[in-house]
Amino acid sequence: MVKAIRVYDNGGPEVLKWEDVEVGEPKEGEIRVRNKAVGLNFVDVYYRKGIYKTALPYTPGHEAAGVVTAVGPGLTGWKVGDIVAIGGNQLASYTEEQIIPASIAVHVPPSIDPIVAASIMIKGMTAQFLVCRCFKVEPGHTVLVHAAAGGVGSLLCQWASGLGATVIGTVSTEAKAAQAAEDGCHHVIIYTQEDFATGVDKITSGKGVDVVYDAVGKDTFQGSLACLKPRGYMVNYGQSSGTPDPVPLSALAAKSLFLTRPLLRWYNTTQEELLECCNEVFAKVESGTLRVRVNHTYPLSHAAQAHADLEARKTSGSVVLIPDAV
Ligand SMILES: NC(=O)c1ccc[n+]([C@@H]2O[C@H](COP(=O)([O-])OP(=O)(O)OC[C@H]3O[C@@H](n4cnc5c(N)ncnc54)[C@H](OP(=O)(O)O)[C@@H]3O)[C@@H](O)[C@H]2O)c1
Repeated sequence: MVKAIRVYDNGGPEVLKWEDVEVGEPKEGEIRVRNKAVGLNFVDVYYRKGIYKTALPYTPGHEAAGVVTAVGPGLTGWKVGDIVAIGGNQLASYTEEQIIPASIAVHVPPSIDPIVAASIMIKGMTAQFLVCRCFKVEPGHTVLVHAAAGGVGSLLCQWASGLGATVIGTVSTEAKAAQAAEDGCHHVIIYTQEDFATGVDKITSGKGVDVVYDAVGKDTFQGSLACLKPRGYMVNYGQSSGTPDPVPLSALAAKSLFLTRPLLRWYNTTQEELLECCNEVFAKVESGTLRVRVNHTYPLSHAAQAHADLEARKTSGSVVLIPDAV
């Protein structure tokens, strides 16, 4: 038996229960992993609330790093003691130990701490697909990133800035503004104090931006469209403030805009894509060109507090849950 978070009903952070669960032995194609660190992601909140659906009861979590404790029969390429990481689909990672298909795991380079690894499997790979594949950021582009001090936002700003773009970030507080500036934002707008569309208009002298990376959703969507240049790209990759209202095609026709609602899993559909994306993130972390800010850690048993703080916009950078037995 190990300890894990279980959810029996959708609702607030209080539905996250700390319980004993059975782990068992890995079958063919599987490995058992004792988690050293579990990444907290806003998508965990969507599932907990029932905005994204999964069968109840379930163990939450999509991102973790840990040590292999058993290898399924006949499986090669993996051994007990390997440090591995996972990130992506619903993976039940809020647990001390779990069994996963080996095909979704990657080996973590020895120079990368498992706590850092557990923060970049989803957040780093999301930054990668957004700036390298969804809309390809190039020198000369002007990019608007909402929630620029968040887990994904921090990495996205660094990556876009490193590619030579002018980055405009939005954040809610002065402290988050300071972090966003350190992460490569050339301009930071505190959108709780100033209308961000007006701010972008001033910064770009009325030209607008090439792309908006918007994961705030409901509160920012309309303003984001207003910030775009003709033929600009609206990338709505999340909805931390709620689901945006439906968009009439006429809203895009006004400036011949492109609109996409991308998900990481559709950019890493094969093991090759996963490894290529992940290795690029690891390489950037190892070379120091991507700084991973693990600004908050909580014991895994305190996941409810971590959820409450994430939803209350009290966190910045990555939030990691540490299994109590580690
Ligand atoms: N499409 C994909 O494949 C994919 C993959 C990973 C993540 N995502 C999305 O990326 C976003 C960021 O994820 P994350 O885990 O890194 O979270 P995060 O950005 O660390 O946290 C969310 C941030 O959103 C901002 N926010 C604005 N309005 C909010 C509200 N009403 N309630 C809560 N937060 C609000 C806050 O920043 P301020 O205080 O600065 O406003 C808050 O810190 C999420 O929307 C997530 O769903 C999408």
